[in-house]
Amino acid sequence: MSTIEAAITPADNLRQGFKDVFSQLASGVSVVTFWRGNHLHGFTATSLTSVSLQPPRVLFCVAQGSQSYAALGAGTCVGISLLSAGQRELSDRFARKLAPGAYEDVALTGPDERAPLIAGALGHLTADIVELIPSGDHAIVLCDVTAAQAAGGAPLLYHARAYHTLHPRS
Ligand SMILES: Cc1cc2nc3c(=O)[nH]c(=O)nc-3n(C[C@H](O)[C@H](O)[C@H](O)COP(=O)(O)O)c2cc1C
Repeated sequence: MSTIEAAITPADNLRQGFKDVFSQLASGVSVVTFWRGNHLHGFTATSLTSVSLQPPRVLFCVAQGSQSYAALGAGTCVGISLLSAGQRELSDRFARKLAPGAYEDVALTGPDERAPLIAGALGHLTADIVELIPSGDHAIVLCDVTAAQAAGGAPLLYHARAYHTLHPRS
């Protein structure tokens, strides 16, 4: 057995299998945004899930090692933008760890200044964080939705570590 083979443990194999399985789960792509001082900040997320209708509540998961986790707390107001097929570049940008001020040119929309919302998205939610539940290396973030607006259109999808969009069935 080579040194490299000997270094791969069952835990490594499980972690890789876990990542491979979830790479097969096709998802819509959202960006969670918020004001960090005077600066727009945010991160790309596929973990957005609807939790409750009464009250309207969603969750997303955020890595505890991220800049966003360090900036979010109970009471923070966040904007959630469901990206459209043409917004792949924005998804890539918000998936990088960029310094404060790096998102100043991103076009925003909406009258609610408590949370930024990305222009041209398929749908927007404004939500107040009610609870952050640390779990493993991430935290589950529960948010109460205070405004919801759908525009519709073709979605940006993520599957098998690549971007896609829908093709109508013939
Ligand atoms: C398609 C896609 C989906 C992602 N989904 C999540 C997610 O749900 N939660 C998360 O914490 N990070 C997710 N990430 C990674 C973050 O976007 C990335 O770590 C980002 O750099 C964090 O930025 P920050 O450190 O400035 O907060 C995703 C990345 C991509 C490309």
